[in-house]
Amino acid sequence: MKILLTGASGFIGGHILRALQTAGHEVVPITRHHGVDFTHMLTPEAWLPYLKGVDAVINSVGIIAETRGQTFAALHYHAPAALFRACVMTGVLRVVQISALGADANAFTPYQLSKQAADEVLRKLPLEWFVLRPSLVYGTGGASMAMFQRMANLPVIPLIGSGTQRIQPVHVSDVVATVLQCLSVASSRRTVDVVGAAPLTFVAWLQTLRRTAGKPPALTLRIPLSLIMASAQVMRFLIPLLHPDNVRMLQHGNTADVQPLAAFLGRMPLSVEEGLCCI
Ligand SMILES: NC(=O)c1ccc[n+]([C@@H]2O[C@H](COP(=O)([O-])OP(=O)(O)OC[C@H]3O[C@@H](n4cnc5c(N)ncnc54)[C@H](OP(=O)(O)O)[C@@H]3O)[C@@H](O)[C@H]2O)c1
Repeated sequence: MKILLTGASGFIGGHILRALQTAGHEVVPITRHHGVDFTHMLTPEAWLPYLKGVDAVINSVGIIAETRGQTFAALHYHAPAALFRACVMTGVLRVVQISALGADANAFTPYQLSKQAADEVLRKLPLEWFVLRPSLVYGTGGASMAMFQRMANLPVIPLIGSGTQRIQPVHVSDVVATVLQCLSVASSRRTVDVVGAAPLTFVAWLQTLRRTAGKPPALTLRIPLSLIMASAQVMRFLIPLLHPDNVRMLQHGNTADVQPLAAFLGRMPLSVEEGLCCI
């Protein structure tokens, strides 16, 4: 197949790119690195030249926080919506949208809401669509994974409040496997939550990262949520990942029923112990 892949230079997109190439697909990569800026791709017409002969589209562009010139509205909503509409115009049938867990009726941050808005556009179009909603994705090259690993390696692990926020990290290989399944499966028009085998607490995640790095369990330090939120207001300018909204999303929890994904893949996704062994 000839596949247009946006975000091909990113963490998840890069893993998808290599898997598609290994499977013998021809890939049209779309990123600023490849000369295409989503902020200039806000109409279906802008996308038409890139869709010639394309059989399927995978959208893996996203940002975790807004920075100068990079807005959720443009990158998560307007540009993807224009791309999806261009697919209808050019006869590209199959579209895989990498959304995010929490981009649903209960979405409460601009990140989630902008993703959900694009997902809704896609769901209403006459396309063979898939909306994939990954939880926290980890694996080689992941920025959040690197940050969590640094936290886990500290002599004393700082926690947000009690550290009992529930997360369900998914290994990037399972995200890739889900995307590949979307390209081959007969029945489309599906939303799939892409999560790891089981939920765990944030503190258990950090201690597991620490253990797989060969270190003994560390003492933890509970930092009050109010203090974390206050420092996040400043830290967001240095590390966008630390935006207060991202703390709120973590605090809210990020888990889902794994069974629909297991049925879709025909197997269970990896547990964090299995996944961390792959890295
Ligand atoms: N990582 C996770 O834990 C996670 C969890 C749930 C959902 N997701 C979603 O999965 C998708 C991929 O995430 P990721 O972790 O792979 O992110 P990433 O590593 O930051 O990659 C983002 C990609 O988007 C491209 N991009 C950014 N701004 C662009 C622009 N203005 N125009 C064109 N391309 C642009 C980047 O390429 P250039 O910089 O070269 O332009 C890069 O290829 C995102 O939609 C994200 O919301 C990720």
